[in-house]
Amino acid sequence: KPRVFSGIQPTNHLQLGNYLGAVKRFVDMQGSGIETLYCIVDLHAITVWQDPADLTRATRELAAGYLASGLDPAKSILFNQARVPEHTQLAWVFNCVARMGWLNRMTQFKDKAGKNRENASVGLFAYPNLMAADILTYHATKVPVGEDQKQHLELARDIAIKFNNDFGVDFFPVPDPIIEGVATRVMSLRDGSKKMSKSDPSDMSRINLTDDADTIAKKFRKAKTDPEPLAETVEGLAGRPEARNLVNIYAALGDSTAEAVIAEFGGRSFSEFKPKLADLAVAKLSPLSSEMSRLMQDPTEIDRVLEAGAERARTIAAPILKRTYDIVGIVT
Ligand code: TYM
Repeated sequence: KPRVFSGIQPTNHLQLGNYLGAVKRFVDMQGSGIETLYCIVDLHAITVWQDPADLTRATRELAAGYLASGLDPAKSILFNQARVPEHTQLAWVFNCVARMGWLNRMTQFKDKAGKNRENASVGLFAYPNLMAADILTYHATKVPVGEDQKQHLELARDIAIKFNNDFGVDFFPVPDPIIEGVATRVMSLRDGSKKMSKSDPSDMSRINLTDDADTIAKKFRKAKTDPEPLAETVEGLAGRPEARNLVNIYAALGDSTAEAVIAEFGGRSFSEFKPKLADLAVAKLSPLSSEMSRLMQDPTEIDRVLEAGAERARTIAAPILKRTYDIVGIVT
């Protein structure tokens, strides 16, 4: 039975890019004869400073987001990373497999570390090795992610291949990124050349799943666009990243395609299109945000889901770690 693994960092609030590029697709992959594991990667979050109380809140809020979006603990294993110590144990082995040169090429590290690399945490540098361990400690082969995780997935593949070669085994399967749909790279509402991000200093650049209807409407109304009306064809959106982004968001929210959105709105002005987009977003997101706040009122249920999920996850991860240690020659 193929196994799916993916994860999201509990930092700030879930934003629309995470929802459309990841969570919504996690939900689509549930059931249908595949085993799905969806993780809250708390140990990845602390590679940059997190206020402890915020981290706790964000972990529960992300779990609430998973549940409210339709991830079902009866169909998927939902848990937080730190509760399954096999991730970090395998990550150590991978720290010794991956090469400095590989990690030096990671664009996300370069972006996040900025100019002052000497001051970046060692964890931020080794981050992709932990991510490889997340996936490979389950022998997962399908990893639904947004476009920005592609390079990290390539590194996970390289680690699996090098481990197998170094030890002359065929042990770790080589995982495939699943980067599909119209929302694999949702862009900032303020700048069509930047991706929408939880950590963008401008809150107007993103839609948070916790935003209320008025805020969502205001953010779309103020979203940056060019002065032309919407193109008559999808090809006509070329070179118009902001327009293309809003069309893609509409398509993803409505489970439709850019072609269908253009067929409906092509040639119309943004002053007509934006309110329709806001209405659709509010219709799709407000049930999620109200369910999230209901779940957050008493985190007992959330905590129970995460704990039970971690127990199930460990039954898969522990034997794989044990076999890894055996292959490496570590006495356990
Ligand atoms: P993170 O927490 O930055 O993002 C979580 C998921 O959301 C996707 N995403 C987007 N998709 C479309 N448009 C956007 N603007 C956008 N922003 C974020 C990301 O691609 C991701 O799928 N390293 C990962 C977390 C991770 C992981 C893993 C993922 C840790 N271990 C193992 C898969 C497998 C990260 O930082 O995602």
